[in-house]
Amino acid sequence: MSRINIIGAGLAGLSAAIELAENGIASRLVSLQPSERAQSVLAEGGINGAINTMGENDEAENHFNDTLKGGVFMADPNAVENLTYGAPEIIRWLEGIGVPFNMENGDIILRNFGGQKKKRTAYARSSTGKIIMSAVIDEARKYEASGLIYRMPHHEFLRLITENGECKGVRIHDCYSNDKNSVIDLYGPVILCSGGLNGLFPGMTTGTTQNSGDVTAAVFSQGVLLGNPEMVQYHPTTIGITGKRCLVTEAARGEGGRLYIMRNGEKWYFMEEKYPELKNLMPRDVVAREMYFVRRREDCEDKVYLDMTGLDGKVWSRKLSDLREELIKYLGEDPKTTPINVKEGIHYFMGGIDTDEDHRTNLPGLFAAGECTCQYHGANRLGGNSMLGAIFGGKKAARTIISSGIYTGEDTAEPDEKITAEPFSEPASPILIERISEILLAGLGIVRNEEGLRKSLSELETLESEREYCQREKSRFRLAEAMLRGALERRESRGAHYREDYPDKNEEYRKATVAELKGGRVNISFRTLPERRKK
Ligand code: FUM
Repeated sequence: MSRINIIGAGLAGLSAAIELAENGIASRLVSLQPSERAQSVLAEGGINGAINTMGENDEAENHFNDTLKGGVFMADPNAVENLTYGAPEIIRWLEGIGVPFNMENGDIILRNFGGQKKKRTAYARSSTGKIIMSAVIDEARKYEASGLIYRMPHHEFLRLITENGECKGVRIHDCYSNDKNSVIDLYGPVILCSGGLNGLFPGMTTGTTQNSGDVTAAVFSQGVLLGNPEMVQYHPTTIGITGKRCLVTEAARGEGGRLYIMRNGEKWYFMEEKYPELKNLMPRDVVAREMYFVRRREDCEDKVYLDMTGLDGKVWSRKLSDLREELIKYLGEDPKTTPINVKEGIHYFMGGIDTDEDHRTNLPGLFAAGECTCQYHGANRLGGNSMLGAIFGGKKAARTIISSGIYTGEDTAEPDEKITAEPFSEPASPILIERISEILLAGLGIVRNEEGLRKSLSELETLESEREYCQREKSRFRLAEAMLRGALERRESRGAHYREDYPDKNEEYRKATVAELKGGRVNISFRTLPERRKK
């Protein structure tokens, strides 16, 4: 049977597969980990959609404006319009497939989240990702039974199969095979849903390092463009556990949690003083930056606390029970009675594989959706828009394939699973991963400058000259270089990209950053954003 190849079995991949299956189109879900272990299960706080169940006269246009403003006007407005106007249908679809959102009086209730004046975030306690995923996985099972979805867990992506500038399929490897050199070639259109670049920042990320960035790095090396690679989101409230950062959901602040620092011996609720309208719920880039700066003030101690001691019992039992349990388990501290010391951690990648609003990449036959892409969030993503982007994007990419007619249902010219003897490339060595991570963190912090970025680029070059590297390692170097060069060339401050040497926003840079690998060199250019279509 001829199938669409989906790389990644998290929310974006599952949503694409379900959409295809609903239209009678078969797909393969190829993933390193089964869906139950995808990054999407870690999402906590909720999913946005202007379903207006709280009597606040909310509407999609407000969601559109907040998303565009939160991303500091650097996202494609047409893509954002598709996303935000499509959000209520996504939430009702999830409700329809059995997601037990928190409800009152027979309808879904919504909570406050960052960068949004209206309550717009649907949630299931503080484990929304896990709960949504179990319903979506179950929905996919229906189609597995009929053969329309075929799962290939424990298979890793190696490279695209290309011919004459088109994507013809993917080469993958069975991780459980005894023969390291046996690879499988799958022909047909490809949707990449491979997630963010967490694996570039082990120790500093709230995400799973199974999302290694290797897929993005490999396709970049094969000529696929990247968009906004410099845009890395730091979540303000994370805690350090077991060698990584653990998320303390924004919902804690949405439900009334307050940030403070000790200044001259007294609690200073700095966000409330500086931002009287949205207070602790300013967009994440703003909160993270404020925390970074107050910690460095001479009159302040160097720890920021999240104070949830004022939340009432019902909020804890009905809305944040999982968060409380997690903090007690991992920190040994009860947030109901003790303020929690929090710090910024890398949480999301607004940049990634460059696509148009219909999720096409520059390579015909190749599509991308979810956190591995870049079209919805501009310079900063609003909390609650991530699962929305993954589900909406997966479905949208599938619809583009359906409407473009590139899937004919007929078998492709090549046999679907052609075993070749070509060896696969080893994973990057842990030492190298660590060293590249240190270099990236030094350049791509919350505060950046030209000197730091040039230093990181030069250290990357020195490291690369030390020895011969395998293909995957070489690709990782190029991806790291694209992120640093994007940040170097963007001589302004916008959203998550704050340059102390260019502290202001500059309208000349209200453009998408495009990274291209040409002749072995990373080239950065800026593309004018489209105007919003007349409605
Ligand atoms: O803080 C959170 O619960 C994160 C949500 C998100 O990134 O969308």
